[in-house]
Amino acid sequence: MTKQFWLGLVAGIVICGVVGGLFGVSMVGKKATVPPSEFEARFVNYLKTIRIPEAPAPSTPIEVSDENLFEGGERYNRHCAACHDLEGDADSDFAKAFNPPVADLTSEEVQRYSDGQLKRIVDSGIRFTGMPGWKGALDETTQWKIVYYMRALADSEKAERLEAGLKARGKWEMEAPGGDHHQGEGEEHERAHPEPEHHHESGHEH
Ligand code: HEC
Repeated sequence: MTKQFWLGLVAGIVICGVVGGLFGVSMVGKKATVPPSEFEARFVNYLKTIRIPEAPAPSTPIEVSDENLFEGGERYNRHCAACHDLEGDADSDFAKAFNPPVADLTSEEVQRYSDGQLKRIVDSGIRFTGMPGWKGALDETTQWKIVYYMRALADSEKAERLEAGLKARGKWEMEAPGGDHHQGEGEEHERAHPEPEHHHESGHEH
């Protein structure tokens, strides 16, 4: 037993070292501007989906009415569309330049989350990615309305109807990242465009 055990242990350590080393080198040497390989994108995506906890349901139920969806849409267009696009499909070069790329909100992967998980994602963001958390910047009710709006974006009929309604209200415009915004409604100090480039929370590796 002992011989096999030691051989196994040594082999295990060597394999871990090689694999870990390769992975480490491939992360460190690269600029974030290089698009992630398919494997890397999947792997990073997998890591973070292992466990996204549910946020508790709203203390006062929020009706999924047109009014609330329009409001969610206005806020979405203003705070999220710069990265996720107005349609939610993240189909821009800007969106694809992120590592991992900005998520397609209409995709099965995202729609698989429960409402509570989506709310948690909006509230807390996703560490090590460009997805910011909005705790404090967007109140609870607004976050839930945005969650319901994200559901509607994945339903082409609803999405079209809401798009028409938002256009009619003059709210079918995204705010440029870093954008100057021109609708003076006394809400200027809200965080409309967190900066995607700096991830200081991942620690200091100097
Ligand atoms: C600065 C760019 C940026 C902004 C602004 C932004 N996001 Fe994201 N978002 C991202 C990126 C990048 C990802 C992909 C992260 C990942 O794959 O883990 C993402 C992922 C997501 C996901 C999916 C997470 C997953 O696990 O697949 C949801 C849901 C989401 N964002 C919602 C929103 C909402 C709602 C807003 C506005 C309140 C918003 N995002 C604003 C960059 C942004």
